[in-house]
Amino acid sequence: MTDAPKTTADTQVDTVDARSTRPDPAAHDTSPRLVGADSELSATITDPVFEVTDVAVSYSGTPALKEVSLRVPKHEITALIGPSGCGKSTMLRSLNRMNDLIDGCEVTGSITYHGENIYAEDVDPAEVRRRIGMVFQKPNPFAISIYDNVAFGPRLHGMTKNLDDRVERSLRSAALWDEVKDKLGQPGVALSGGQQQRLCIARAIALEPDVILMDEPCSALDPIATLAIEDLMRELRGDYSIVIVTHNMQQAARVSDRTAFFSVDMDNGVRVGELVEYDLTQRVFTQASDDRTEAYITGRFG
Ligand SMILES: Nc1ncnc2c1ncn2[C@@H]1O[C@H](COP(=O)(O)OP(=O)(O)OP(=O)(O)O)[C@@H](O)[C@H]1O
Ligand SMILES: [Mg+2]
Repeated sequence: MTDAPKTTADTQVDTVDARSTRPDPAAHDTSPRLVGADSELSATITDPVFEVTDVAVSYSGTPALKEVSLRVPKHEITALIGPSGCGKSTMLRSLNRMNDLIDGCEVTGSITYHGENIYAEDVDPAEVRRRIGMVFQKPNPFAISIYDNVAFGPRLHGMTKNLDDRVERSLRSAALWDEVKDKLGQPGVALSGGQQQRLCIARAIALEPDVILMDEPCSALDPIATLAIEDLMRELRGDYSIVIVTHNMQQAARVSDRTAFFSVDMDNGVRVGELVEYDLTQRVFTQASDDRTEAYITGRFG
């Protein structure tokens, strides 16, 4: 239990029997073209899972992210891309109050989740993190069995009814069941890197969140394990809303429905991240509206 989590943030979601039959948003979206970050596109996303309004983040008084406003749609995959230090992880962590755990981090502006202000005083951050799960860059299974890894969060939250079913369902949803069903008592850390990352996704899913945040979930994996996780994301998006940070442009192009491009600007001598462009992924990659986006995705910058 040496690696047991400080919070429930890295544990969390439900069955995935009903696979997505949603139409491709790009094929049907006739929304006006987004120009700049103040998004006309955002305005067309009605009933968003997240509404981010003028969110700025600083660490110990030093600004890290300038005011960001965007809407994250339900049941889609939204990618956050941009050069190192532009605030992608900072943005992602603000969506489930993980930044609360960093001393000196201050988030201003407003973020609503299904219309509810997640930073309101009477909101329990642990419940926010149960509903909005997170998967990290480096697979981080706890030093306990495969079964106990998946059961960890549910036990913490008293969700122990039909626990065996919950564990099996979560492992099936994470496309790992067939590989581990005969060795559930073995340590999670003994799995391969790609299996460990799917175990972490199963651990997230076990808590029945409806959002999964992923911060570079494939960067420690080989190409085959990466493709397996991408397939899994496509399957999960019918049931969950996914926000993924990735450095891999092909990955963003392959899996995401919408892409937010962040960049770094100099503000009074300080490097500060800013949202440059937010649009349907297909448009960002074929007809970016901002030169900085174009330069980044064509590899001329960052
Ligand atoms: N825990 C922290 N304490 C202090 N400053 C931080 C912390 N985390 C991030 N920052 C600062 O905030 C800015 C944005 O960092 P962030 O990690 O969000 O960028 P990123 O886009 O995720 O970068 P990368 O692609 O390298 O992961 C950087 O200037 C960074 O130094
Ligand atoms: Mg990061």
